[in-house]
Amino acid sequence: MLDIVKIGDEVLREKCTKVTEFDDALHILLEAMFETLDEADGVGLAAPQVGVDKRFFIVSLPDGTKREFINPEIVGTSVETNPYEEGCLSLPGVYHDVVRPSKVIVKAQDANGEEFTLKASGLMARVIQHENDHLDGVLFVDHLNEEERKKVLRAYEKKNRRQRGRS
Ligand code: NI
Repeated sequence: MLDIVKIGDEVLREKCTKVTEFDDALHILLEAMFETLDEADGVGLAAPQVGVDKRFFIVSLPDGTKREFINPEIVGTSVETNPYEEGCLSLPGVYHDVVRPSKVIVKAQDANGEEFTLKASGLMARVIQHENDHLDGVLFVDHLNEEERKKVLRAYEKKNRRQRGRS
């Protein structure tokens, strides 16, 4: 199990660098990330969220789809957008609607460096965009207006204080 980095940690604000080695170390880290994500009951986890400033993330959907995206690049987005309530394992306990394109085309590599292109819609498209943002130091709250962002961050701080008080 890996520790999930929380907002306030600088690694979450970094622009991550490309993965060049598709070696055992990467495979072991990916496996640990899938376990951590399942344990946390999340749908996506990006490398910086486990303290690694490299360009990759994983997705694990309720329908059983599991996939890694190494050096991903969103090469197409639909004009159509939709709102969807997002959360983040780096800001546990708070959620807010974020408007994003409904569909995306993503190019990436798998764990062995094989390139693939995926057209995604629905939850997959949503998670890809959220996780891809993490690789550029962007969090979902950055998509909100100032008032909404402050409200979400205040709610997070309040929750966090309560939790610290309990332990
Ligand atoms: Ni996130």
